[in-house]
Amino acid sequence: MTEAQIHGWLVLLSFALSAQSFILLMVVNAPYGRFERPGWGPAISTRSAWIIFESPAVVVFAAIYFAGDHAFATTPLVLFGIWQFHYIIRTFIFPFRIRETGKRIPVLIVFLAILFNLLNAYVNARWISQFGSYPVTWLTSIPFIAGSLCMAAGWVINQHADLVLFRLRKPGDATYGLPRGGMYRWISCPNYFGEMLMWCGWAIATWSLAGLSFAVMSASNLLPRAIAIHDWYQDRFDDYPAARKAVIPYLV
Ligand SMILES: NC(=O)c1ccc[n+]([C@@H]2O[C@H](COP(=O)([O-])OP(=O)(O)OC[C@H]3O[C@@H](n4cnc5c(N)ncnc54)[C@H](OP(=O)(O)O)[C@@H]3O)[C@@H](O)[C@H]2O)c1
Repeated sequence: MTEAQIHGWLVLLSFALSAQSFILLMVVNAPYGRFERPGWGPAISTRSAWIIFESPAVVVFAAIYFAGDHAFATTPLVLFGIWQFHYIIRTFIFPFRIRETGKRIPVLIVFLAILFNLLNAYVNARWISQFGSYPVTWLTSIPFIAGSLCMAAGWVINQHADLVLFRLRKPGDATYGLPRGGMYRWISCPNYFGEMLMWCGWAIATWSLAGLSFAVMSASNLLPRAIAIHDWYQDRFDDYPAARKAVIPYLV
């Protein structure tokens, strides 16, 4: 079997795992953050966990990318830069913006998140610098422009939504407030909405099954969690805005 065929099978595996994760996460909430609970084995601090499990999306992605034949061509380099821009912030800046509250993440979740990042790093990095074909004219194509705009919009929404959450807590505070403003007017989890929009943008900008598989995998994790978080807010806040949806304005 050639490596290109293996890559194709891994893309299919990614779609299959997404379906499985979606079903599982509709039944069981991943035990971190507000759903932290005992019984999931050893755990490590939330900050270290984020740095450890997101690192492959920066380091392994870069190593695989630069092994590709087209790694120094213009368009693959632009796509590489977009991916790294997001993941360097997520891996090395986001964990230090989290208010430390003593919460921990089970090693099992860290391990699964590393597998998720390794699979996506291989599938996407190998696609853009080796198996895909991105001439410089791709940068002025409709999919690239539309996808990049989607990514930029999703990134801004995600960052703003996370910032609103961070500002709800003073140092040392571990309570949950009622987020308001921005897209919280319409949904409970605009950070997840922004994240999903961003990876849909990646799928469009790369116009590839590799990119689509990552968008689907992100949504398969975030949709069930957003629904659970929405229910959690409704249970705890009597004045929770009735018209607010979970994660897609007016729909879900
Ligand atoms: N690509 C993917 O598949 C994927 C998967 C997961 C996450 N992400 C992204 O990673 C980021 C973090 O995800 P997450 O699941 O940790 O998000 P989250 O549950 O919304 O929490 C984000 C941070 O805000 C705090 N927080 C949440 N709600 C709060 C409230 N009402 N009042 C005060 N503080 C609050 C949380 O504290 P606690 O920890 O104490 O709850 C946590 O530190 C998001 O931008 C998300 O889009 C991406």
